[in-house]
Amino acid sequence: MEPTTFILFGATGDLAKRKIYPALFNLFIEGKLPASFALIGLGRRDWSDEKFRGNIAQSIQDFSRRKGQDAAQVESFLQAFSYSVLDIGNLEDYGKLLHKIETREQALDVAPNRLFYLSVGPEYFETIAANIEASGLGSANGWKRLVIEKPFGHDLQTARALNDMLGQAFAEEQIFRIDHYLGKPMLQRFKAIQQSNPIIQALWTNRNIANVQITANETVGVEERAGYYDHVGALRDMFQNHMLQLLMMTAIRTSVGGDADVVRFKKKHIMEALEPLQKADVGLSVVRGQYAAGVLHGKPVAAYTSEPGIAEGSTNDTFIAARLTIDDSFWRGVPFYIRTGKRLKEKSTRIVIEFKEPLKQVTTGEEGAAEPNLLVIEMSPGESISLQLNTMDGAAKETFKPMRIDIDPGHGDLPEAYENLIHDALLGDATYFAHWDEVEASWAWVQPILEAYEENSVPLRQYEAGTFGPAEADELLARDGYRWWFDVAEPAKQLMVAGQE
Ligand code: BG6
Repeated sequence: MEPTTFILFGATGDLAKRKIYPALFNLFIEGKLPASFALIGLGRRDWSDEKFRGNIAQSIQDFSRRKGQDAAQVESFLQAFSYSVLDIGNLEDYGKLLHKIETREQALDVAPNRLFYLSVGPEYFETIAANIEASGLGSANGWKRLVIEKPFGHDLQTARALNDMLGQAFAEEQIFRIDHYLGKPMLQRFKAIQQSNPIIQALWTNRNIANVQITANETVGVEERAGYYDHVGALRDMFQNHMLQLLMMTAIRTSVGGDADVVRFKKKHIMEALEPLQKADVGLSVVRGQYAAGVLHGKPVAAYTSEPGIAEGSTNDTFIAARLTIDDSFWRGVPFYIRTGKRLKEKSTRIVIEFKEPLKQVTTGEEGAAEPNLLVIEMSPGESISLQLNTMDGAAKETFKPMRIDIDPGHGDLPEAYENLIHDALLGDATYFAHWDEVEASWAWVQPILEAYEENSVPLRQYEAGTFGPAEADELLARDGYRWWFDVAEPAKQLMVAGQE
């Protein structure tokens, strides 16, 4: 890997502590950082290098999946870190930073490759990007990359304005927009399985697939983020980004060696082929929900509107379910159902691909009839990819029972999403990042929903905390003759696993 200076804005913040330092440490342990690597942490607080390093050591201790490493290793990792005070609005501070970076690069005789990671609120993006440009921090003799985190705008218009502004300092291929769902290991393994197995590729058409279900259920409520969440809701917080990215990644077929541009092109095609919603019809395909008081894991939990910091009478959405269709020759006629929400019965992020009905002669509709075949990608909390097939029930010969074959049991110690993504950004590989075309197209797609919510023309369905969300979300599928997999009866948990009988 090429020598890199990693310049981290927001180095004393929560995201850095919970995600970025532990991810970098795990990469270090696996020998996946560049041989010449330095990280300069930037913040308003007047910290010494020593205090900064002490904080990183603590973050590894608290959040790394490799916390058991010996002290010498942690010490050697910390050598790459230093800290500088920087006032985001003060151009002079950027000049000082440039001097510090150049001094090191020249002493070591390494290329001026610089990665700018903005772990700060989006309100600072514009000032930082402009000052990077004005101070000459991006050198012509090396590469520069910008890594940013969502939110990328608040709606279509603000997303475009943000992108235009960033475009003045960075070209599209220099911008790495993190959507941490794209870094999730089971998503990446699912694409690898699809790429390397003609049998799966052959099935990937509307001739064989009945529907696709994408779920990201959470048990947590708004936590300490009321101020942010009450202005954003499930639609902006999860659906416009994570959920639509999962839809695109499921719908595209990637081939081995397909680079970031191919993936970008295919994802763009999916977004263009996604049937648009008319504002007046949003309520037919979208269920908007908000949690009421309920019981979760045996404990009473408050209604959304009673959470601290939430505006009285707030109509903010904490749940969304939607039915989408892609009008292209592969997917025409195959509904995609998406749902995500807070304070639901269990944490589960999964994609289920349901194949068309089993053979007519074995489908009696009674208990013991053959079930549809399913490809199930469990992304969280369990991690696995499995295929559900039918086999004969040993006890009652005339009937069938589903059997689940583990294609990839996940192996327990998988990298965190941030490890995958930071590693790719260091390599300059944008395959698993959100490209502007997709971000723009997803905002365009959700815009009528935002407007319909704004006008309150879509009913806000209350659901009891600790359930699977409003009943209307089940009806979205029931209308087409389907149901959400693995909600209530949870057959997946009772299935036998091949080879383990
Ligand atoms: C974040 C959202 O992007 O994703 C949070 O802002 C949400 O509201 C989180 O809780 C979910 O991520 P994960 O990886 O826990 O499914």
